[in-house]
Amino acid sequence: MIRVEGVWKSFQGVPALKGVSLAVASGDALLLTGPSGAGKTTLLRLLFAADHADRGEVFVAGRSLQRLRASSIPYVRRNIGVVFQDFKLLEDRSAVENVAVTLEILDLGRKIILARSHAALEAVGLGTRALSRAGSLSGGEQQRVAIARALVGEPALLLCDEPTGNLDPERAHDLLVLLDQIHQRGTTILIATHDPEVVDFGIDARWRRARLVDGEMLDVDLPVARPARLDEETEGFSGRPEADATDVVRLLKVVQ
Ligand SMILES: Nc1ncnc2c1ncn2[C@@H]1O[C@H](COP(=O)(O)OP(=O)(O)O)[C@@H](O)[C@H]1O
Ligand SMILES: [Mg+2]
Repeated sequence: MIRVEGVWKSFQGVPALKGVSLAVASGDALLLTGPSGAGKTTLLRLLFAADHADRGEVFVAGRSLQRLRASSIPYVRRNIGVVFQDFKLLEDRSAVENVAVTLEILDLGRKIILARSHAALEAVGLGTRALSRAGSLSGGEQQRVAIARALVGEPALLLCDEPTGNLDPERAHDLLVLLDQIHQRGTTILIATHDPEVVDFGIDARWRRARLVDGEMLDVDLPVARPARLDEETEGFSGRPEADATDVVRLLKVVQ
């Protein structure tokens, strides 16, 4: 689903990503951790085609984003749902209208759009608040609306940047349980976070982990054994390459 190879990205000559590589197979769930400023958001923006790498390759769902024409970006984004920390709901509109925004660019009837938007809110446990004004919802509820908005287009991949950023620990825990359920229903998920509470949450063993520090991928865990998937989209994307000696040395450095 995702393959990043030797990616470099600098801002005003200062590297934010230094030769980062990562592979995420279809059906994977990956927790990308690292301190603030490590380059997590920069990496997610590359995956969403919001920016280009200076060097290296980024593939999402079998397409190279490096060679993507601007006109193709919307087609790539149809496969990707995003939840950013600053999730920007339309406060004066209802929850369901906020979710419907995602589908309005598609050529669907109003009835279908509303039915699917209601279903997405049900899926995040907000069925009863569908008609509430977004601005009147709590922070945790608003974040769930943002997740429903990201999911309503049934993306193959969900990217979440600091999804628990504005939530207290209990709400953060509930949100992670929800994201884990979404993963179990078949969506490939990547969560980026600097929040130690999330890291220690004890997310199910199905979640893979990767750690980015100062623009370098220090630690990518071994993929969990899973049946080979041969669907076209994931061909050649069978998880991470075999660990080599360098990885093991890096891993030891992290553990110490
Ligand atoms: N648009 C930008 N302009 C200048 N510097 C940026 C920009 N985006 C990110 N950076 C810098 O790149 C580094 C990595 O940032 P970021 O990817 O946001 O890290 P993280 O999400 O892990 O906190 C930081 O030093 C940040 O200041
Ligand atoms: Mg960030």
